[in-house]
Amino acid sequence: MIYSRITGTGGYLPEKIMTNGELERIVDTSDEWIKTRTGIIKRHIAAENETTCDLAEHAALKAIAASGINPGKIDLIIIGTTTPDVIFPSTACLLQKRLGIHGCPAFDVQAVCTGFIYALDIADKFIRTGAATTALVIGAETLSRILDWTDRSTCVLFGDGAGAVILEASPEPGIMSSHLHADGEYNELLQVPAGISRYPEKLKNGTAFIQMQGNEVFKVAVNTLGRIVDETLEANHLEKEDIDWLVPHQANTRIISATAKKLNMSMDRVILTVDQHGNTSAASVPLALDVAVRDGRIQRGDTLLLEAFGGGLTWGATLVKY
Ligand code: COA
Repeated sequence: MIYSRITGTGGYLPEKIMTNGELERIVDTSDEWIKTRTGIIKRHIAAENETTCDLAEHAALKAIAASGINPGKIDLIIIGTTTPDVIFPSTACLLQKRLGIHGCPAFDVQAVCTGFIYALDIADKFIRTGAATTALVIGAETLSRILDWTDRSTCVLFGDGAGAVILEASPEPGIMSSHLHADGEYNELLQVPAGISRYPEKLKNGTAFIQMQGNEVFKVAVNTLGRIVDETLEANHLEKEDIDWLVPHQANTRIISATAKKLNMSMDRVILTVDQHGNTSAASVPLALDVAVRDGRIQRGDTLLLEAFGGGLTWGATLVKY
């Protein structure tokens, strides 16, 4: 039996930091409101000439170094992103060139904030079926490019960044199970309602921005994440106490606390980065994973529950034996 295992992680955040105090000068908001409602203190914003592929490259090189593999061994590249550098080619193909890799499949997955969980599941299935042995799986975003900096209900929430893992074939698991879901019925709760084919003029004049019904998204997120925790535990015949670390999508501390409560988990077993990174969409889970691997909290053999939800609406979870 072939499984896939995470053998290296990497993360990258742009140099420029934007604090809540700086946002107070741009929109009618306050540090107090942002901290209380979301837990966010600061976020990183890509420089004008810095792209999603740039962030992905930094994170990928760190993951490659951490795993100790030769980049030439990589035979699959998947990037979860909603903010690709260009309409096409995919950001994965742009990155493939930079890494000097030729010939292997390389593509992007668009599942908004659940993008990394979707990408990880796809890579795991390639490896389990023998179609790949060494996958580079990334979540990378420059969400700042699709924010309306006059809309206080969205611009305070998001940030830029990238997280990466190397996933290698292994006789031992690894990825224990993944559970992906979507319900397009809720597509209008969280969207950029313009693009290449619908209202292309908004794309051309730079007004294709994130719109969100925050309250509704909050309710659906808490419900769906609660259900997916049960689904993942049942599929693996595990009890709540068997999870060592929750590595959640970093959208909001109140949503994360609700999931931790559902797992009877104290917050000191939850990896929390939303305070420092804001919501980095598909980058948020691999970035949080990398932070906790590098600071030594997550150790080999630990059982991790990764989960995310986002536009679509999409949601998903992965159980990992690290
Ligand atoms: N600063 C100050 N006030 C703000 C504000 C801001 N940045 N954004 C909104 N407000 C105001 C609203 O206008 C509203 O004012 P009113 O009562 O006078 O009408 C008030 O704050 C409450 O707004 P509401 O939207 O009810 O707040 P909330 O408690 O639901 O918090 C979110 C808003 C966005 C933080 C919350 O709904 C949320 O986190 N939702 C989920 C979002 C999410 O996770 N999205 C990403 C999914 S991947």
